[in-house]
Amino acid sequence: MNVAVPETSQPVPGEATVPVPEVDAAPDAQGVPWRHRHLLDVDVLTASDLELVMRTTDAMREVLARPIAKVPALRGRNVTILFYEASTRTRVSFEVAAKNLSADVVNVAAATSSVTKGESLVDTVRTLEALGAQLLVMRHPTSGAPYLAAEVFGGGVLNGGDGWHAHPTQALLDLYTMRSRLPGGSVEGRKVVILGDVLHSRVARSNIWTLTAAGAEVWLCGPATLLHGFEAWAARGAAAGRRFHVTSSIDAALRDADVVMALRIQRERMASGLLPSLREYAARFGLTRERLALAKPDALVMHPGPMNEGVEIAPDVAVSDQSRITEQVTNGVAVRMALLYLLAGVTDAR
Ligand code: NCD
Repeated sequence: MNVAVPETSQPVPGEATVPVPEVDAAPDAQGVPWRHRHLLDVDVLTASDLELVMRTTDAMREVLARPIAKVPALRGRNVTILFYEASTRTRVSFEVAAKNLSADVVNVAAATSSVTKGESLVDTVRTLEALGAQLLVMRHPTSGAPYLAAEVFGGGVLNGGDGWHAHPTQALLDLYTMRSRLPGGSVEGRKVVILGDVLHSRVARSNIWTLTAAGAEVWLCGPATLLHGFEAWAARGAAAGRRFHVTSSIDAALRDADVVMALRIQRERMASGLLPSLREYAARFGLTRERLALAKPDALVMHPGPMNEGVEIAPDVAVSDQSRITEQVTNGVAVRMALLYLLAGVTDAR
């Protein structure tokens, strides 16, 4: 699926309101600034788009390190957050990010909105726009819902997770976290293991895209029932020069890994019969200290959250020195600031 882009590329917002000069002076390698009006998935992002997001995130991290981590870049702009699904970190981190940029933030919880009275997504989006929404951050249990919203919304739409399909800001914060921690600052040639319920995971799908695009070797590991369909995807990816492997052998996956990302068993999305029991899953695929010892000694341990400790990850691994899980959350704010900032520039130009 493609996102609409404006006819002409426009620079990001004016220098006077730009907090960090490097951000404004950060066109990509070919000198082309950010062109995307929406962020619906990572599949439309070029290598230079990814670089621009990473560098803008660096600048936002500098902002966050200041005693007062607030800049006026989005002053007077309305960021509306519309979540149809439970969330803690993604929703709060978008809200904190927007507030750090001085935007006016409106939070809509679908459970208490007119959605419960049968209002359609399209009507809800049109209503929010009439109420001043300029950037719309949305999460929806149906894959593709943000694409529909983007067709009717006049501003920019940021996908905060749709069904099993995509979670672009999570993949970008994961890439940022890996790059900031891996020696050499790159994932190229690194072995990255995504372990667990890949089948129901939008986080896995978006991460596979960015990581293989950035040259990582991605290993998907879990019970065969939770990897269904990914062999075919891997074969197509390999034909296109991307490197990823699909295996139910946790030893083969973890051996010499540079990064291990555990995923939650997403029972709310799961049909019955895919897993015999959580206890058995934990015994066969849980990320324990013993298993982690197969990976490189300084391998990064990651998890998008929310964690079910004792199921996909042992509690001591989650808080070990190798764990980068809290850092993922912190970087999530900086990445979302960067994306709101970049998208606001394009939405401005309309
Ligand atoms: C994930 C999600 O909602 O897609 N969490 C997140 O956004 N950090 C993963 C999950 O629900 O397990």
